[in-house]
Amino acid sequence: MSSLPSVQKALTATADHKAEVTQVEVPKPNKGEVIIKNEWVALNPTDWKHIAFISTQGAISGCDLAGTIVSTGEGVSESLVGKRVAGLVHGGVYKDRGAFQQYTRADPSLQFIVPDNVELKDASTLGVATFTSNLALYKTLGLPTPDKPLSQPKDILIWSGATSVGQHAIQLAKLSGLRVITTASEKNHALLRSLGADEVFDYKDEQVVQKIKKATNNQLELGLDCISEKGSVELSTDSFGSNGGRLTLLLPYAQEKVRSDVKLQPVLAYTITGTEFTLFGKRYPAIPEDHEDAANWTKKLTQILASGKLKFIKTTELKGGLESIIEGFEKLSSGKVSGEKLVYNVSSL
Ligand SMILES: NC(=O)c1ccc[n+]([C@@H]2O[C@H](COP(=O)([O-])OP(=O)(O)OC[C@H]3O[C@@H](n4cnc5c(N)ncnc54)[C@H](OP(=O)(O)O)[C@@H]3O)[C@@H](O)[C@H]2O)c1
Repeated sequence: MSSLPSVQKALTATADHKAEVTQVEVPKPNKGEVIIKNEWVALNPTDWKHIAFISTQGAISGCDLAGTIVSTGEGVSESLVGKRVAGLVHGGVYKDRGAFQQYTRADPSLQFIVPDNVELKDASTLGVATFTSNLALYKTLGLPTPDKPLSQPKDILIWSGATSVGQHAIQLAKLSGLRVITTASEKNHALLRSLGADEVFDYKDEQVVQKIKKATNNQLELGLDCISEKGSVELSTDSFGSNGGRLTLLLPYAQEKVRSDVKLQPVLAYTITGTEFTLFGKRYPAIPEDHEDAANWTKKLTQILASGKLKFIKTTELKGGLESIIEGFEKLSSGKVSGEKLVYNVSSL
């Protein structure tokens, strides 16, 4: 630790729900933690939503990061120092952790080792996307993981497949032996086919529900709605077959608003932290099983990445300091980001 600086720049929340660049302490690892020197960070919708609606003054923004472990706390093997890792931290909530800074305090269980064939820039796009996909596809829908794929393909609807979560989930579902039906704007159809999607429909097409029902012989039973708003939950549930089924959501939605035979199953990536938290006034208790499941997933993910079987979402680098992340928030919140991930190099702030 002696070679690390004592202060650094970070993107933090103001009292009136804006983001600003401030100076914060370089953290020292607590028991069970590591310090990561971030090289790349990636933006997620949750980052601007936290700043706008949730974060209190001084909370450090950002969830997705990739870098190198430079220090370990009590109980963590020192052999991790020097390892290239990427993963998730619960950004926008704490004053002493968050991705949008140079040195981040992190739970090593929620960081995956980045194999040599993968660039840290690409790895930085995976934190929220991969843990959410794992929670949605494997823990909640109970699909077989890629190491034990289905022998007979089964249909799954991945609504809004061009999202960060969608692009990753499509590929995981294919590796798990499913037949993937997805939706996106026309301009993203070729991209989603290249990721393995079997059928791609335009979610703006008035006939989209009928087309999905036809493509699935009115037997669709499984779904993941990667947008979970703007009418998507109605359209997704309407696309299910006559026997109903289960639809995993990324935002909460009232079951009463849609058909009762399609069970809505919302997931929230922060439950993998194994720590209780409050969001929009609702208290979420710690879920140790989600934490353990996510920790196990990091090992599987490293293997899948090493096999070269996963493609990464297209990255667009923002230059111009942490301030440019504020511009990125504006792009994200105004819907100007399509099929790509905004990333930022923080290795020399
Ligand atoms: N619960 C959780 O733990 C969790 C985790 C991750 C994300 N989320 C939430 O999930 C949502 C997506 O996040 P993300 O990072 O994956 O998204 P993202 O990459 O920022 O999503 C961008 C995509 O959204 C699609 N889109 C925009 N309007 C749409 C509509 N009306 N219907 C269908 N698709 C639409 C666009 O697809 P086209 O370009 O094809 O039009 C665009 O490519 C956000 O609300 C985020 O906060 C929740």
